[in-house]
Amino acid sequence: MSEEQTEGERLAELAKRRGYFFGASGAYGGAAGFYTFGPQGAALKSNVEDAWRDRFTVQEGNFEIEAPTIMPEPVFEASGHLDGFDDMLVECPECGESHRADHLIEDETDIEDAESLPIAEVEALIEEHDLQCPNCGAHLAGEPVEDFNLMFETNIGPGSSTPGYLRPETAQGIFVEFPRIKEYARNSLPFGATQIGRAYRNEISPRKSIVRTREFTQAELEQFVDPERDEPDLSSVEDVEVTLYPATEQQADDGEYVETTVGKAVDEEIIGDPWIGYFVGIAQEWYERVGVDMDRFRFRQHLAGERAHYAADCWDAESEVDGDWIEIAGFAYRGDYDLSKHGEHSDDDFTIFRQFDEPKTVERAVVEPDMSVLGPEFGGAAADVQSALEELAERDPSAFEDEEVSVTVGGETKTVDADVANFRVEEQTVSGEHITPHVIEPSFGVDRTVYTLLAHAYNEDEVDGETRSYLSLSPTVAPTDVGVFPLVSNVEELVDRAEAIVDDLRESGFSVVYDDSGSIGRRYRRQDEVGTPFCVTVDRDGLEGEGPDSVTIRERDTARQIRVPIDDLVAELRTVESGERTFDDLVEAYELVAPGADA
Ligand code: GAP
Repeated sequence: MSEEQTEGERLAELAKRRGYFFGASGAYGGAAGFYTFGPQGAALKSNVEDAWRDRFTVQEGNFEIEAPTIMPEPVFEASGHLDGFDDMLVECPECGESHRADHLIEDETDIEDAESLPIAEVEALIEEHDLQCPNCGAHLAGEPVEDFNLMFETNIGPGSSTPGYLRPETAQGIFVEFPRIKEYARNSLPFGATQIGRAYRNEISPRKSIVRTREFTQAELEQFVDPERDEPDLSSVEDVEVTLYPATEQQADDGEYVETTVGKAVDEEIIGDPWIGYFVGIAQEWYERVGVDMDRFRFRQHLAGERAHYAADCWDAESEVDGDWIEIAGFAYRGDYDLSKHGEHSDDDFTIFRQFDEPKTVERAVVEPDMSVLGPEFGGAAADVQSALEELAERDPSAFEDEEVSVTVGGETKTVDADVANFRVEEQTVSGEHITPHVIEPSFGVDRTVYTLLAHAYNEDEVDGETRSYLSLSPTVAPTDVGVFPLVSNVEELVDRAEAIVDDLRESGFSVVYDDSGSIGRRYRRQDEVGTPFCVTVDRDGLEGEGPDSVTIRERDTARQIRVPIDDLVAELRTVESGERTFDDLVEAYELVAPGADA
C-alpha cells in the first residue's frame, strides 16, 4: 500500500483487484453511480443480506415481501416523493457539471447540515464563501440553485400515458400492499413487514464509490403498531451499550457523545420512542456481529431540518471511514403518514380494526336521504349525493342544523332540504374502531454496510518477516469460509485428499476455495487479502504419522495453525463458524503447529 493512499482509495483499489466491486459497464465508458459486485463482493453482500434477514425478519417473526421496483405515478403522488424528494442542484456555468449545492457548502465551510437550509440561504452562502466548481474551478456565485427530483421516471407500456417511477425506497412497496399484508397478520397489531431489494435515486453527484450510488440495495423493516397500546419488549436490549449523539449535543458548543445503555436512553428520553430504542439495540448487536468496528460507530439523531418529509423523529447509524461519518441506516418514526396518505389517495383500506375491551355505546350521526326525492332531482348523481351527505354527517353534524344542506359532487354544489336528508343522531353499541397504524422504520443500506465492513476489516501486520494485508471479516459474512490446499500440487495423494475435503466441506454447506498454485505462503496471502477466515492444508505429516490422518487449520487473523484429525474437521470448523467455540478453544484442544503472526 502506498503511504499517500486514503482509506477510501485503498479500499477502491483492493475492491477492484480482488473482485469485490467496480464501476459497471466499463467496456462502454461506464455510467457514474452504478457498480457491479464481483464474485467476492456479491458473496459478501448476499451474506450481509442473509444475516439481516435472519435477525430482522426471522428472529423478529416478521413477514418478508418482494414488490416490484417500478411503481405507477399515483403511488408517489400519495407518498409525497413527487413533490418533496428533492436535492439542491447548482450547475457550473463553464463546464456544465452538476453539483449538490449543500454538499459543496459542507465540504468547503464549517456548516454541517446545509441540506436543511432554504435555497436562498444556500445561494447566499455560495456567494459569501466564493465557492468554485470542483471540476473546473469556475466561480459559482450568482448561479441559481434549484430543487432536483431524485426519482428516475419511465413509461409503463408503450406511449407516455402511464408514467411510472423506479422506487426511491423499498418501503413504498410494503405500504402499498398493507391492505393485503395485514390479512397475513390476522388484522392484528403489532406486526412487521420487511423487504430487501433495489432502490434508485438519480443522485446529482454520486460519490465515494458504493457509498452514494444511483442504484443500491436497501433492507427495510416497517413495524406497524397501535400507538396507544403497543410497546416493544425492551428487556431483551435494555443492557445493550450504545454511543449516542443526540440533536441537543450536536447543537451545543461543547457537545459530546452520550455513552449509555438502550434502557437508560429510553428511560431518560434521550431516545424519545421506545420502538426506536428497541431497534437501535438490536441494530447495535447486529452490526457488531457482522463485523463493524464499534469504536468507529455511533447513532446520531437528525436535527429538525434534516428529517425526511414523513419522519417525526429519526436516528442514523453512522460508521466512520476516512475520517468521515457515513449514514449506514436510519431509524425513523413515520407515524401514520404513509398509510393515511395511501388511504386518502386510493380506494383501499389502510386501517386496522381495534377491538375495545368492552363494547361502548356511542352517539352516531346518521343520514337516510329520501331517494324518491334525490333520484328525480339529481339523476345519475343521486347515489354520489347520498354518499357525500353520509360523509358530511360523520365529519360535521352541525352542517345539518340549517334548513338546507350543501355538498360538492363532481365539482358542483348540490343542495338538499334538511328534512329530505333525514339527519338524526342515534345511540349505537360498537365493539371497536378503525385506526391507522403508526410505523417505525429501520432502514439499512446494504452497500454502505459492505463498504464499512471492508474498510473496518482492513489490517496490516508482519508474517514471516513480510508485511501482509488481510481482511478480518467476520465468519458470518466472509465471502469464502475455507481455503483448502494440498501442500504441494504434484503429489497425487495430497491432491486427492484435499479434493475430498473440499467435497465434504461443500456438502456441509461451507463455501470453499481450492487452490494448488504457487507457494503455500502466497496461497495463504491470497486468502488473507479477501478475508477467508480459515485455511486447511493437507501435508505428508498429516497422512504418514502414527495417529489418525490429520490436516492443519490456519486462522487468518493470527496466522496460528493447529493440527486436527480429518474426521473432526467439519465439526470443528462449524463450531468456530457459528461462534459456539473460538479458535483459542481449538488451540487448547489440539496441537499448535505454527505460532502465527509476529510470533
Ligand atoms: N425508507 C427510508 C429511506 O429510504 P434513507 O435514509 O433515504 O431512508 C436509507 O435511506 C438507507 O439507504 C441509508 O441509511 C443509506 O444506508 C442507504 N442509501 C440511501 N441513499 C443511498 C445512495 N444513494 N447510495 C447508497 N446507499 C444509499
